[in-house]
Amino acid sequence: MPPPRVGEILVQRDELEHRVRELAAEVSRDYADRDLLLVGVLKGAVFFLSDLMRHLQLDCELDFMAVSSYGSSTDSSGVVRILKDLDISIEGRHVLIVEDIVDSGLTLSYLMRTLKARNPASLEVCALLTKPERRKVDLPIRYVGFEIPNRFAIGYGLDHAERFRNLPFVAVLEE
Ligand code: IMP
Ligand code: MG
Repeated sequence: MPPPRVGEILVQRDELEHRVRELAAEVSRDYADRDLLLVGVLKGAVFFLSDLMRHLQLDCELDFMAVSSYGSSTDSSGVVRILKDLDISIEGRHVLIVEDIVDSGLTLSYLMRTLKARNPASLEVCALLTKPERRKVDLPIRYVGFEIPNRFAIGYGLDHAERFRNLPFVAVLEE
């Protein structure tokens, strides 16, 4: 079998840049009078998160979590393991989870339940990408960058077996 490679481009570099600025403007407006804590989900969200945060016009803090879902590499099982927890307490904080992609929604649903139990003042989600066709649980996602079709996406943080994260655009994985 030939190695997987970069296929059709789903979101171009300039579209990403433009949309990230729009999202940052929205978040800046919405949290203007609140103390914001961004929670990045490692590793995929790192590129999106740093671009988003750079454009925020407000005081904010940053922390990270790493989770892994048991199961195959392209399908989420809903059983999530915390590999790295937050360093700080989120009690009474306004928390915005920053995710690369919401697919089935199982990972995010687990994460939201876990963080809600720690009594933040508010808890919202900002996801660069969603695949609405694949959703298994209904989740309130406050900010969405792009809706994409049901294809495996790589680039701008998204990986396949840890590769392709450094592509400056989002593309389909061609297997
Ligand atoms: P979910 O639990 O099915 O929503 O899966 C969420 C996680 O699976 C994401 O945070 C990604 O790490 C990974 N994932 C889902 N779809 C893709 C994709 O198309 N490309 C790369 N990673 C993906
Ligand atoms: Mg992820």
